[in-house]
Amino acid sequence: MTNRIDGIKACVFDAYGTLFDVHSAAARCRDDLGDKADALSALWRQKQLEYTWLRSLMAAHVDFWQVTGDALDYAMAATALKDAALREKLMSLYLTLDVYEEVPEILARLQQSGMRTAILSNGSPMMLDAAVTSAGIAANLDHVLSVEDAGIFKVARATYQLAVDRLGLQPAEICFMSSNAWDAAGAAHFGFQVVWINRFGQPRERLPGDPKAELKSLHALPDLIGA
Ligand code: LAC
Repeated sequence: MTNRIDGIKACVFDAYGTLFDVHSAAARCRDDLGDKADALSALWRQKQLEYTWLRSLMAAHVDFWQVTGDALDYAMAATALKDAALREKLMSLYLTLDVYEEVPEILARLQQSGMRTAILSNGSPMMLDAAVTSAGIAANLDHVLSVEDAGIFKVARATYQLAVDRLGLQPAEICFMSSNAWDAAGAAHFGFQVVWINRFGQPRERLPGDPKAELKSLHALPDLIGA
């Protein structure tokens, strides 16, 4: 799945899991979490995503910061962790997640080649602003788009439409990158040309919407789209 992708005018990235390492928050609390760190982090992420889908179906939207806190509360209860200070520490670490090592260099290279760059994320504007600033990549992003402007989470079509409207491009002129296979499927089904950044070696989803290509990281992206 690595044929050249043509006709791209902008690269739009998912944020959490794709640019930012969502497991870096728990990793920085290993002393507090001990052998529960990995289980807590995996469950926190899983519940966070489930709550986005469920709230979208329920038409009961709250922003991603609230969802992230609710998911952490569930994960801490499920792993028998009861510690308000630790909860606050994990939430504040979510605002300064590690950026994957190749991200700054690849964003800069794409911009230098004349490609427009953007984030399109479930994250609230506050969360995205904090993560982008902490990672030092603000100057390498032309737009940081939050689904809050659509009032519903991915994979609702209205969320992907935000990028089309803000960038003023056709869906097929946008290359969308996500490490989340379900997000890659949703974006491809919407009409973007999608590169699935399969950082975790997962099997593909059995959903409508086929990515055009699959990479393990962002390193080969510029060559793939001729940037
Ligand atoms: C995001 C979630 C899907 O950044 O990771 O939109």
